[in-house]
Amino acid sequence: AMAPVCVLSRAPALVARSSTFSAKGCFSRSTRALCAPFTSVRLLKSRAAYSLSGSTTRLLAASASSTATVTKEDVIIDHPSNNVTENIFGKLDMNLHQRPNHPLGIIKFAIENYFEKEFPGKFNKFDSLYPVVSTKANFDDVLIPSDHVSRSPNDTYYIDDETVLRCHTSAHQAELLRKGETHFLVTGDVYRRDSIDATHYPVFHQMEGVCLFSAEEAAAAGCTQAELAEKELKRVLEGLAKTLFGEVEMRWYDTYFPFTEPSFELEIFFKGEWLEVLGCGVMQQAILDDAGRNEYKAWAFGLGLERLAMVLFDIPDIRLFWTDDERFSKQFKAGDLATKFKSYSKFPPCNKDVSFWISDKFSENNLCEITRNVAGDLVEEVKLIDEFTNEKKGKTSHCYRIVYRSNERSLTDEEINALQEEVRSLVVSKLEVELR
Ligand code: DAH
Repeated sequence: AMAPVCVLSRAPALVARSSTFSAKGCFSRSTRALCAPFTSVRLLKSRAAYSLSGSTTRLLAASASSTATVTKEDVIIDHPSNNVTENIFGKLDMNLHQRPNHPLGIIKFAIENYFEKEFPGKFNKFDSLYPVVSTKANFDDVLIPSDHVSRSPNDTYYIDDETVLRCHTSAHQAELLRKGETHFLVTGDVYRRDSIDATHYPVFHQMEGVCLFSAEEAAAAGCTQAELAEKELKRVLEGLAKTLFGEVEMRWYDTYFPFTEPSFELEIFFKGEWLEVLGCGVMQQAILDDAGRNEYKAWAFGLGLERLAMVLFDIPDIRLFWTDDERFSKQFKAGDLATKFKSYSKFPPCNKDVSFWISDKFSENNLCEITRNVAGDLVEEVKLIDEFTNEKKGKTSHCYRIVYRSNERSLTDEEINALQEEVRSLVVSKLEVELR
């Protein structure tokens, strides 16, 4: 039987320290909680509807089955703020979440089906909204403060000063509200510059849900609109968690997001651990007001599809979602949430360390970007293993271990040495570090 659900409040200090102002630029308490692994009518990029007119909102027409094409010229341009790489460009248009037999597609469909069953015909589903959005849509429209760390080019991919690769599906809230949508689910690929390890990848997938409540609905329910939104939010999301994970224990945490008040995180007890499943809350009224929907209240949630899929299917490495190895893909079947992934091989890792005096241009995300561009998915992890400051010289040294490993084949020494050499020379030329 399910334990009673309760709302626990974290000590304020904890919330403040690791919440939205966390160094990683996430919008919640834990670093990539939502980002990491959880998250359809698709918005198409009709070129006409959408021609790149400065930084104006480029929205799209709803349709059930087309996919936006992103060309290289759309995202890699000659602009001083542009930090989109070839590697990232290669991920746009992969649309893993649209593949019915892919773990991400399986979870997306399971969530959409849950909403369809709970609210037949009510929720519009978007899963091909164009991933290039204005900074206004990505940040301002969802009330992300102007000094928030997630706006930094160290965390976000900029095309120009006013255009980014969306870093969360919340970037579509305001535009859909303005279009008159009242119940919707948005699934899409989202992009964040970040460190490299088994659960972090610069592209991952999220799902966003929004549901509006009118004064009449609240009157019928005998409570205020805000009360109705909060009550419904918890009921609906507990039901969702049960659909995905079975009869699990759950608990609610108060948390902070710029776009909701109050804000919550749902955790479930799964395989002996408390696991954060999603972030949600009652939408800030200003978002509704700005979209011309001031007579409504709403709930909203956001979740990371990879995170859910890794937990549910026992997938140990986030890079596996991107492999075209059939030993991976053949294990998953549309509609089957019970699959447990069986590792098909473990090739040995190859560790290479690099030490240098850091510069102003250095950041771990920048190092990871370089490594990813050189080695692609052969890089499994980049970790800081030593750090010290020489006070006399006024210089700080970092030693990073780069772990190379393929999930598909064994790597040769020569191959890895060549990659490592390239990384070494690029950190010098691009990040101006001094090798030691
Ligand atoms: N956008 C948040 C993130 O990426 C996730 C999220 C949290 C979305 C709460 C929401 C919400 O709509 O209400 O970390």
